[in-house]
Amino acid sequence: MKNKFALIIEQINTQLGGIAGKTILDVGTMNGRLPALLADSGAIVTAIDIKPLPQDAPNQDKFTFIQIPFEYFNISEEKKHYDVAIAENVLPFLADKKYSMQKFLEIADAQVFNVWGHNHVWAKSRLTYSPEQIEQLKSQILETHDILSFDEKEYDTPTISNPNELSHWHEYTFVVKRK
Ligand SMILES: C[S@@+](CC[C@H](N)C(=O)[O-])C[C@H]1O[C@@H](n2cnc3c(N)ncnc32)[C@H](O)[C@@H]1O
Repeated sequence: MKNKFALIIEQINTQLGGIAGKTILDVGTMNGRLPALLADSGAIVTAIDIKPLPQDAPNQDKFTFIQIPFEYFNISEEKKHYDVAIAENVLPFLADKKYSMQKFLEIADAQVFNVWGHNHVWAKSRLTYSPEQIEQLKSQILETHDILSFDEKEYDTPTISNPNELSHWHEYTFVVKRK
């Protein structure tokens, strides 16, 4: 099975016309591994996170890092618009999912991201999506974007309070592009 970053790279290559020369924003980058891979493929990458990059993060010279919560990130400070914005395992942590999604959709021409269904073990339930809310999210996206791909996976993972108890949840992955 492909790792998650290889999959994102494949999605940009096959669905969004390639990586080289694109301006890409990685929201919630954590350790900077994905922006370094994208830069190696010729993208001009900005990565942001609410936390600092680990001091030993490799390849920090290959991309721009800004420590800032996405909610306060002002794109005009750095660049007006990105070709692609990525949020891998990040959107369910942001305040106010509708506002965050709107801002994430406006920040770039195309987006690659995932969100989680209810019962995810870390994410607060108000920031995850029931099947009905996924349909509402699709409607919100379709106002401005085409949905190039949508994938749904199901998992059973141990809960934090009891490792013997399994929590059943869904993951929804989107690739979308402005109309
Ligand atoms: C589960 S990790 C995912 C990291 C990385 N995208 C990956 O898939 O490996 C979530 C990341 O989102 C960051 N994060 C949480 N809230 C954020 C916010 N409001 N603005 C920007 N980053 C945030 C966390 O610091 C963390 O690095």
